[in-house]
Amino acid sequence: MKKIKQDGSKRILVAFYSRDGHTKRAAEMIADALNADVDKIEDKKPRGGIIGFLISGYDATLEKITDIDFSKNPADYDVVILGGPVWNGRVSPAVRTYLLKNRDSIKKAAFFATYAGRKGKCLSQMREIYNGEVVAEEIILRNRIEKEIKQFIEKLESII
Ligand SMILES: Cc1cc2nc3c(=O)[nH]c(=O)nc-3n(C[C@H](O)[C@H](O)[C@H](O)COP(=O)(O)O)c2cc1C
Repeated sequence: MKKIKQDGSKRILVAFYSRDGHTKRAAEMIADALNADVDKIEDKKPRGGIIGFLISGYDATLEKITDIDFSKNPADYDVVILGGPVWNGRVSPAVRTYLLKNRDSIKKAAFFATYAGRKGKCLSQMREIYNGEVVAEEIILRNRIEKEIKQFIEKLESII
């Protein structure tokens, strides 16, 4: 992927939650292209297997928060690019919790989500929870990540 001429004057963080690896792949591609730091958000609630899948959808629908771990301080960055999966057409509890914890220290945000075919209202929920300046957003089909990430990176490139 083409590298942009990010001269390091802007500090950029790509923070992501990923249960099954799609959002992780997208996040790493964005971070690589923009020369950004990456932070993995961990959800401490077990979400594996079919039971985990069902509980996860239920938790997203009920707009639950969860116990999360992450290591980078978003306040140290000029822009935070935050991504996660679409769950039952909604934002995942881990991304919801991350936004609620950090919304006051995120200066500028960009949002992305990966999905399988039904977009729902994940991105608008993220915007609503954050309630600050969102410079770009993209919803990315999980089996077209390579193709669809390009337009998001180009958008970010023109802004950051
Ligand atoms: C609990 C759960 C609910 C999901 N609900 C939706 C949905 O409503 N719409 C959709 O398009 N994909 C849905 N998916 C699929 C994920 O959004 C998609 O696989 C996404 O890329 C997963 O990201 P990840 O691999 O980073 O976890 C759901 C997946 C899970 C685990």
